[in-house]
Amino acid sequence: MLIELSIIFLSIALAVTVFLALCYFGLFETISVKTGESPYDFGGKKFIYKMYKANSANIGPNFTKLTALLYPFKDETLVPVLITQPLGFKSTKSLLGVLFEQNNEAVEKMLLSKDYKIMTLPQVNHVVSATFTNKGSISVVIALKRVYPVITDYIKENKLCAYPSIEIYKGDMIYFLSPLSKQQDFFMNEDSSESSSEEGDSDDGPVDGDQDLRDNDDSDDDNNAVPSTASSIASSSSSFEQLIADDVLTS
Ligand SMILES: *[C@@H]1O[C@H](CO)[C@@H](O)[C@H](O)[C@H]1NC(C)=O
Repeated sequence: MLIELSIIFLSIALAVTVFLALCYFGLFETISVKTGESPYDFGGKKFIYKMYKANSANIGPNFTKLTALLYPFKDETLVPVLITQPLGFKSTKSLLGVLFEQNNEAVEKMLLSKDYKIMTLPQVNHVVSATFTNKGSISVVIALKRVYPVITDYIKENKLCAYPSIEIYKGDMIYFLSPLSKQQDFFMNEDSSESSSEEGDSDDGPVDGDQDLRDNDDSDDDNNAVPSTASSIASSSSSFEQLIADDVLTS
């Protein structure tokens, strides 16, 4: 009897601990999606990157490798950035690299010696944006699962043309940004280098149909848990100009 009680007690304690841990990592963090100026100013910054045939869901190992490369330099002005085509786009081209808030010749040299390339990130006036607190890799997993469906719904409901998907890992914050202009400029240097697989069609436009491909094995209750901030914002207004106006009024 006593043993059974202890087991029950321990199970409850464990469940509570796991629950609190997941809260800490952002399981219930409110996600609000906005249209307006970018909350992180990336325009005109130096970006040293590599092109991958991967998307946000399967580029994890390469991302880990990059953070390991940067780790010895311990410099907070080196900001990991991932630029991908949203899921549902035909192309799986991704740019993974480092945004330089300040010059750092040692890191620049190191990356260039490993076949990384340099570009300047385009200046974009307006983006669709969301942020998520980053408390480590569990947060990142939760963020990717929770944020993208909300952003995708928001973009769809407001009929916006917002891509690519940019993830900026600055300090304890992840910025999710989808530019509303200059979309082609992000992949400008990589367009011609892609030769064989995709012929004919432009691979930069959205594909019709279900865009929510990331967790095709997930049941719907996952989505119900996401607070529908996006839809409540979206129901009242649908034009881009209106969204910008809303944003100015509320800020
Ligand atoms: C990215 O990571 C995967 C898995 O570790 C690896 O197989 C692949 O070679 C990496 N890509 C590049 C370009 O390093």
